[in-house]
Amino acid sequence: MQKQTISLTVNDKKFTLDIDVRQSLADVLRKQGFTSVKQGCGVGECGACTVLVDDMAVDSCIYLAVWADNKKVRTTEGECRNGKLSPVQQAYVDAGAVQCGFCTPGLVMTTTSFLERNRDRKVTREEIRTGHAGNLCRCTGYETIVKAVEKIVDVAEEE
Ligand code: FES
Ligand code: FES
Repeated sequence: MQKQTISLTVNDKKFTLDIDVRQSLADVLRKQGFTSVKQGCGVGECGACTVLVDDMAVDSCIYLAVWADNKKVRTTEGECRNGKLSPVQQAYVDAGAVQCGFCTPGLVMTTTSFLERNRDRKVTREEIRTGHAGNLCRCTGYETIVKAVEKIVDVAEEE
């Protein structure tokens, strides 16, 4: 087993870790207690493990932890500040977009990234759907998830 020392920031806290170079970022994060990062398919299909690395959404099950060396990682635990849900988290609650909740942490991070990329423009419903196409949900039928996103982005009128 080949080991490597990496330094990364997770939700504003610095970590220096000795890891197996084959370990996924999802594994490493979960071992450090960030259990919002869900292990679903494990092959980059379902999005349950989505986290932000330098503000870009990645499937952490297929993202090697060594690639996160010197990078800034965000999980949904860190989006909640001083006991207050982030606007994205609150929108999911308000829209009733959480059922079993297994997909929710990954979806919240995908929405967070989507929102940050589209701050200054109106988005269409189609863009919301395609922007979340990498995250599967077995419970909600997606309608409430789209409604949650619509609560916090500027939605363009349909033609
Ligand atoms: S667990 Fe990572 S994409 Fe499914
Ligand atoms: S709420 Fe159950 S998988 Fe999405």
